[in-house]
Amino acid sequence: MIPIQTSLTKLLGIESPIVSAPMAGASGGALAAQVTLAGGFGFVGAGYEPPDSLTRELGIARQLLQHTDDDAPLPIGVGFLAWQLEKSPDRAEQLLSIVLEHRVQAVWLAFGQDLGRWADYVRNHDKNAGSAKAVKIFVQLSTVEQAHWAIKECKADVIVAQGNEAGGHGLGASLPLLTLCPLIADVVKSLNGPPLIAAGGLAIGAQIASLLTLGAQGVVLGTRFLLSPESLYTDSHRQALIAADSSQSVRTMAFDYARNTLGWPEGIDGRGLRNGTKLFSPGVMAFTGSTFKSSIIATVVDYERGTDIAVIQKKLAEAIKTGDNTRMVVWAGSGVGLMTKTMPAQDIVNELHEECVRHLRGAGDLVVNA
Ligand SMILES: Cc1cc2nc3c(=O)[nH]c(=O)nc-3n(C[C@H](O)[C@H](O)[C@H](O)COP(=O)(O)O)c2cc1C
Repeated sequence: MIPIQTSLTKLLGIESPIVSAPMAGASGGALAAQVTLAGGFGFVGAGYEPPDSLTRELGIARQLLQHTDDDAPLPIGVGFLAWQLEKSPDRAEQLLSIVLEHRVQAVWLAFGQDLGRWADYVRNHDKNAGSAKAVKIFVQLSTVEQAHWAIKECKADVIVAQGNEAGGHGLGASLPLLTLCPLIADVVKSLNGPPLIAAGGLAIGAQIASLLTLGAQGVVLGTRFLLSPESLYTDSHRQALIAADSSQSVRTMAFDYARNTLGWPEGIDGRGLRNGTKLFSPGVMAFTGSTFKSSIIATVVDYERGTDIAVIQKKLAEAIKTGDNTRMVVWAGSGVGLMTKTMPAQDIVNELHEECVRHLRGAGDLVVNA
């Protein structure tokens, strides 16, 4: 791999500015470790799971990374949904203690009323606070105001700008990444802030090259890594992602009502595949005609029609019981239509990195030497 050097790669000691997102229920220790082994940086998502699961996933990562030096940081991160931490401070302390015991290199915070509280908790309990080995705090955000806060008040070590295209949860009113990234890059520059990395809708190396020229020092991909065998998504989820086109990726609260995962901060919704299309029916995955105009009614349409939430929840529970994939919840960013196959996570990092290098070099060729 020809290294790409940015302030992010220097901070983390990595060769590629490619980060795999923490994804609740989808990114465990295997995915995070493989991304790091390929030269990028991987995150475990510690969403709704109990502390035991986090311990298990960190154990998997530790083994894959052959990490035996207890003095060295474990070169992956763990991402938390801050509203879940706020819901149960006891559980929060247990989870954060596990992360500190395992000496992970980074903690990612997003979606809470009081992110600063958790950043402070980590810093106050980190034996290496103040040194180069200290846990690095990543803060994911979607507005210029939040960027000001994250730099000035929270003193984040890395800022993650999440655009509207992002799979999974995010600010419904967030700007597209092509606008958000340079806006936040200006804030970072004016405040002499930390590395900025960009997230949302990324699928190919050319997009990464463009963001590096827009002021980002790295990128975050979630959905693309769901299409690796190391993610915790099932084969049915992956088939749905491969079959989907980008117009099926929609922002909605339908899935949170259906799953009863409510409590997100105001303005947050989730981007996933508008389910219920024929693409989700077993046996017709290869169907390539009209997509969500299909006649199968499922969660999003039910929700938009005002169907009683209890009914929507019951339908989802029945679908899970009978193995009916038409109601499957598949989070996916708007880049999903650019994704065509499942690949090992290390190959994804290598492919994205090589494409990015090629496009950065190719862009230079556009300039005519006088
Ligand atoms: C399945 C899934 C789960 C996610 N879970 C989390 C999470 O637990 N915490 C978080 O901060 N972001 C989460 N995200 C959002 C990611 O951090 C990131 O912003 C997003 O994946 C980037 O967009 P992309 O999926 O289009 O690459 C999730 C995304 C997906 C697809």
